[in-house]
Amino acid sequence: MTIDRRAFITASGAALATRALATPAIAATHGKRPQGRFPNGFLWGAATSGHQTEGNDTASDTWLLENVKPSVFVEPSRDACDSFELWAKDLDLVRDFGLNTYRFSIEWSRIEPEPGLFSQAMLDHYRRMIDGCRDRGLTPMVTFNHFTCPRWFSANDGWLSEKSPVLFARYCEHAARRLADGIGYATTLNEPNVMRLLKWMNLPAPLLAAQRAMLIAAARATGAVAFSAANAANVEDLDRQMAHLLAAHAAGRAAIKSVRPDLPVGLSLAVQDDQAVGSDVERDAKRDYCYGAWLRAVAHDDFIGVQNYDRTRIGPSGPLPPPAAAPRNGMGQEIYPPSLGDAVRYVHAATGLAVIVTENGLDTTDDAQRAAYIPAALEGLKSAMDAGVPVRGYVHWSLLDNFEWVFGYGPKYGLVAVDRQTFRRTPKPSAAVYGAIARRNAI
Ligand code: BGC
Repeated sequence: MTIDRRAFITASGAALATRALATPAIAATHGKRPQGRFPNGFLWGAATSGHQTEGNDTASDTWLLENVKPSVFVEPSRDACDSFELWAKDLDLVRDFGLNTYRFSIEWSRIEPEPGLFSQAMLDHYRRMIDGCRDRGLTPMVTFNHFTCPRWFSANDGWLSEKSPVLFARYCEHAARRLADGIGYATTLNEPNVMRLLKWMNLPAPLLAAQRAMLIAAARATGAVAFSAANAANVEDLDRQMAHLLAAHAAGRAAIKSVRPDLPVGLSLAVQDDQAVGSDVERDAKRDYCYGAWLRAVAHDDFIGVQNYDRTRIGPSGPLPPPAAAPRNGMGQEIYPPSLGDAVRYVHAATGLAVIVTENGLDTTDDAQRAAYIPAALEGLKSAMDAGVPVRGYVHWSLLDNFEWVFGYGPKYGLVAVDRQTFRRTPKPSAAVYGAIARRNAI
């Protein structure tokens, strides 16, 4: 996300910058491991997104936002991980770890760099990636929109425009015609609820003002009246933005299904593990504001993607800080692996849908924390499955240390480190831990 919720928590000082506690504390606090194997055919994956890894996504709205002055981005994405060139190496890594699924996004701004002008070469590029997955025995899970949109789209009001659902559906249909028969699972939108989550967190006024100034600068640079992006929008616009994103999901899904009716289509929702401390009232109000409309909108979807990274404890006056003794990452954020199982239970109870965990992971420079986090999070997930929640797969965020939106290359979510000069990929020990779980299909 352009304004990363976890990063913003750090930036706004809500998290204490204490050094992480010893890794074993994570496993020890979460009790007995569930027994047994995951179901046959369980999807074990790693995820990336186009803008965060490909590099030089110059026709996108986010490229402009990174490079205007002022900008809330600490640095521009530049070459990212050069995955536009090196995607085959990325797929090799996923296969070699022992995973069977790769989640990635196709870049709308490459496929439709000008309104109505579709690039055959770019569609062919993504087709090669899909075929490359199949060649390696990987199920391609394709996100049609991972936040970034063409610059022309966002300079014409973006998701605030009434035309946006139709424009999105037109793009989805073009892309699906070339790609759908190779795709395993498709999602329309990535975390379309993220701006509401950020609003609920009451971001500090100076950050909101900086975002507003950046959007004004982007409008000026494009000669637009206003500039608005999926993950950078002013708070007064969020209801309008959500109405159009909801319509875009329905229209995008219909467009993809019109090409290939049997392709499973869903969306990915950002879901925290919301824990009421005291009365449920505040917690339920938060859930309604951040997820309610989306949980209703997915009724006709084939599955729902859940993206969970953390929990929020909610008291009568809003969010509470983590317990003092909670394990933390190097940035002082709480490490709480059971949040995944809890989020999945909540979403399934609210929708009745099958779940795919399309993102879950940890920002840490201490890879031992990630290596401990993965099995601990999977324990909670397996317990939810043992309790009857139909979970079809788990996709870890992220395959690579990549461009983490406003915080640039600082955060480290990757199973693989990437040299910023040579783009050389170096798997971390946590990749072997995760791969071993996937290979034996059991924690
Ligand atoms: C987003 C990713 C992001 C990750 C870690 C998710 O909200 O989908 O793009 O990099 O969280 O912050």
